[in-house]
Amino acid sequence: MRFSPKVGRASARPWCESDFRAKSGLKPALLLAGLAVFASAPAARAEPSFYTARVAPILDRSCTVCHGAEKQKAKLRLDSFENLMRGAESGAVIKPGDTKASELYRRITLKRDDEDVMPSDGKLLLSADEIKIIELWIAADASATKPLTDFPTAPVPKLAPPPPVPLAPDWHPRAAEIAAFEKATGLRLTPRSQVATDGLVLRTASAPGRCDDAALKKLAPVAALIVEAELARTKVSDAGLKSLASWQNLRALDLTRTAVTSAGLSAIGPLKKLESLNLTDTAIDESGVSQLKALPALKRVWLFGTKAAETENPRPKQSAN
Ligand code: HEC
Repeated sequence: MRFSPKVGRASARPWCESDFRAKSGLKPALLLAGLAVFASAPAARAEPSFYTARVAPILDRSCTVCHGAEKQKAKLRLDSFENLMRGAESGAVIKPGDTKASELYRRITLKRDDEDVMPSDGKLLLSADEIKIIELWIAADASATKPLTDFPTAPVPKLAPPPPVPLAPDWHPRAAEIAAFEKATGLRLTPRSQVATDGLVLRTASAPGRCDDAALKKLAPVAALIVEAELARTKVSDAGLKSLASWQNLRALDLTRTAVTSAGLSAIGPLKKLESLNLTDTAIDESGVSQLKALPALKRVWLFGTKAAETENPRPKQSAN
């Protein structure tokens, strides 16, 4: 689409693109007035017009390759409300309120093999839902501004699923660096999934004895890529937790059977994304558990075999927070 570079996101948030598109078709004075309204009443923005939210995307997708900025077949442009209403060489293509007399509607409802059918490449005719949307819009006076809520019976286009939430930056550009770290520390950094932005898992299970506080410190340059750290049975202690504090994308941390203490736990307070923390068989007690309240995303904590489990609840315990 010509007006907005945010095409990929348009399907998830159609109103962003729509506002932009509507505004870009308006005269400067109107545009300023429109912005003033937005500034004083931000709620008005949440209600896009039916034209911008439903009709314009259909024309953009199926028609503007031939009726847009680059080509204007029949001298017709369908890339803005004004251009659409200006019509073609031979006159208007939309008669507000009169679907049957609207040349555009006639063209999109012809049979596939009719030589006048639009789009004229013939293969990708508009769907029944798309035709219905245009029909309802013309019948309701082909307005640029009537809100979506005026068209309760209109079909709702199926939205593309939202893109996956990135858990970490793409690790691929740093593959060589990661391999070097693996070699230097003897630790493994493995992709969590095939999605490049799903992050890396720090694995130590094959040789936990090799992972200590110094090794964690060395990982600092690639720490943003790590979303899970399996440190069970390693030599990590409270000093190592200080290094972990800057691992901003860490979501899961397993400290089972390590030397960490309640005093050391306060260091991981900055881990705002940490959801899961395993403290099984550590020296953590109640004072350590109370510090975990600082972690806003924390959902699961394991305290089997700790003093906290003994004093508060008989084990086994899986605390919710
Ligand atoms: C592959 C190119 C192509 C595409 C895509 C295309 N058109 Fe056309 N369109 C043409 C050509 C060529 C003409 C002129 C010949 C004709 O009138 O059939 C035309 C003419 C028209 C006319 C008649 C204008 C007049 O003279 O009154 C309308 C209305 C129209 N197109 C609407 C559409 C709509 C709506 C779409 C999208 C659903 C669309 N077109 C997609 C090529 C295209």
